[in-house]
Amino acid sequence: MNNLKPSWPAMLADTKPLLKWAGGKTQLLEELISKMPKKYGRYIEPFFGGGALFFSVRPRNGIIADSNPELVNLYRSVANSVDEVISFLSQYQNTEEFFYDMRAQDSTKMTAAEAAARTIFLNRTCFNGLYRVNRQGQFNVPFGRYKNPKILDEASLQAASILLRDTTIVCGDYKTVLREHAQQNDFIFLDPPYLPVSEYADFKRYTKEQFYEEDHIE
Ligand SMILES: C[S@@+](CC[C@H](N)C(=O)[O-])C[C@H]1O[C@@H](n2cnc3c(N)ncnc32)[C@H](O)[C@@H]1O
Repeated sequence: MNNLKPSWPAMLADTKPLLKWAGGKTQLLEELISKMPKKYGRYIEPFFGGGALFFSVRPRNGIIADSNPELVNLYRSVANSVDEVISFLSQYQNTEEFFYDMRAQDSTKMTAAEAAARTIFLNRTCFNGLYRVNRQGQFNVPFGRYKNPKILDEASLQAASILLRDTTIVCGDYKTVLREHAQQNDFIFLDPPYLPVSEYADFKRYTKEQFYEEDHIE
């Protein structure tokens, strides 16, 4: 889909979601885009996740938000220090030992760029690209055993960085974000977590606050 704004640099054609994210809308892009108004004020996406629609539409001056601080750190770091994020990723290896060592590290003690690289690395190499944390907020998805996952996609990180530098990135609840930012004529894409379809479905658990006590991975 090529909907590049004339004034955006050509390298923005490389923008795509940086993460595989539960409920990501890549498969529905054509349908979603066909329903968007031709003209609108600002683009606002308060349940951002992997941001499939945003990375396809590439709006100017957009506002994106999520209540997951790890995700928000990732997008802010790609905006502000993409070269550092790339440098960390270029040193990471797709081995079980490296994965579990990285998973065990406390991302709150890392620099923002290193924590962002860790988020991308774990997402690309963990089982099925899932994001799950325990009650302590520790990532607990096992190693994915993929042969050759793309840990570093430099072109899409550089393109995302340009787009994200032009974007307001907020960490918070969607209601606050809408109250503080939404104005008449804005386009607001709301893609909230789904309700579990059964007692055991935990599809919606994106943050430690949504952790179900009875759930165990590994
Ligand atoms: C279904 S996912 C969005 C998927 C996204 N459209 C995509 O293409 O990847 C929902 C997102 O909402 C976030 N979220 C959950 N509760 C929230 C809240 N109260 N306010 C803001 N974001 C929230 C989750 O962290 C998750 O990233």
